Amino acid sequence: MPWSRIGLETPSMGATETSPDRLIPVFDLEVTSEDLDAVAETLRSGWLTMGPRTLEFETKFAQSLGSQYAVAVSSCTAALHLAYLAAGIGVGDEVIVPSYTMAATAAAIVHAGGTPVFADIVSPALPMVDPSHVEGLITPRTKAVVAMHFGGYAAAVEELADLCARCGLVLIEDAAHSPLATVGGRRLGTFGLAGVFSFFSNKVLAAGEGGLLATDDADVAASARSRRSHAMTRGSWDRHQGGPEHYDVPALGFNYRIDEPRAALLLSRLRRLEDDVEHRRVLTRRYRRLLQDVPGLIIPFGDDAVATSSCYVMPVMLEDPSRQGDLRVALREQHRVQTSLFYPAVHEFTAYRARYPGVSLPMTELAARSEITLPLFSHMSETDQDRVVGALAQELQA
Ligand SMILES: Cc1ncc(COP(=O)(O)O)c(C=O)c1O
Repeated sequence: MPWSRIGLETPSMGATETSPDRLIPVFDLEVTSEDLDAVAETLRSGWLTMGPRTLEFETKFAQSLGSQYAVAVSSCTAALHLAYLAAGIGVGDEVIVPSYTMAATAAAIVHAGGTPVFADIVSPALPMVDPSHVEGLITPRTKAVVAMHFGGYAAAVEELADLCARCGLVLIEDAAHSPLATVGGRRLGTFGLAGVFSFFSNKVLAAGEGGLLATDDADVAASARSRRSHAMTRGSWDRHQGGPEHYDVPALGFNYRIDEPRAALLLSRLRRLEDDVEHRRVLTRRYRRLLQDVPGLIIPFGDDAVATSSCYVMPVMLEDPSRQGDLRVALREQHRVQTSLFYPAVHEFTAYRARYPGVSLPMTELAARSEITLPLFSHMSETDQDRVVGALAQELQA
């Protein structure tokens, strides 16, 4: 089946695929004819808001994850907000969260009324939240702990689950990066009270925008389902199917609904997710092999972790953080290689510094200043990978 490419618009669009001038994007989205057909068929159906395709996607995603319930929503940020609310987070409650994450992990705690308490990571080589630091931050006000699986590599989620069980805390997993990733044979996103996923356009399973909350807890699922659609006791699809017209609103909800075209796109892409993730693993192993000879780099996580990761991004850490800025400029300007930063530290952003002053997290700050995210997407060519590694080696040896 021929691939229909919907790539990033880059200044060099029009150059041939192999042109050395072509910008290698940090991620790229490929859309197949099956994807297009699924969306077109949905548009033709005339039913665009949440309905049967959403339900089918939730069922298939829950099956692939091994969770009891899946609630599809408009974004992972919405899923995080619903997860914190369902966990009972409110005013006065502290939630221990990594700062080495995307800001949404923490922002949603504040939107729920709680207070984020930032924990450090182990090291730039192991950029996952440090369970011993988490334990030291627990106070009588602590209600929950968040595990974020950076890049689709498992956080110390079993250890954190044990800690939460011992201390009577709720564990929430931010599995935005982690569809199909596992630890000990169990899927990430299934260890906590709820696990949340992102379908933003650069993600492993991408639909432009979208998210999902997975849980084995019937009350959490019911709370998320209700709040995603204004807490109305009956939705439009039910009424369209002939259910009673009357509905009540017993709580305060939101419009966090996903829609049918995106659910159809997700269903179509879910069918090849295993293959996509396997390609990412092959490319990640190849990156790691090629990069081991490049001086001045720390490659996070171990080679063994690749087989169970979703390999969402390819992070490298610079031994000399002072080179982060100019190296990224040189890669872009001289080698036409786009990079990204996963992540600036959340506690150092203006909004967080103002609200929660005085936070110091040495390992997070070092990782944030050292990291460069290299291009990685499931259909990336080896030629492009060689170009990225060659450019990095040339600049680091300069
Ligand atoms: C770790 C993490 N959590 C949450 C989010 C928020 O996801 P969304 O953009 O779907 O709201 C992201 C998105 O980049 C993320 O990387």
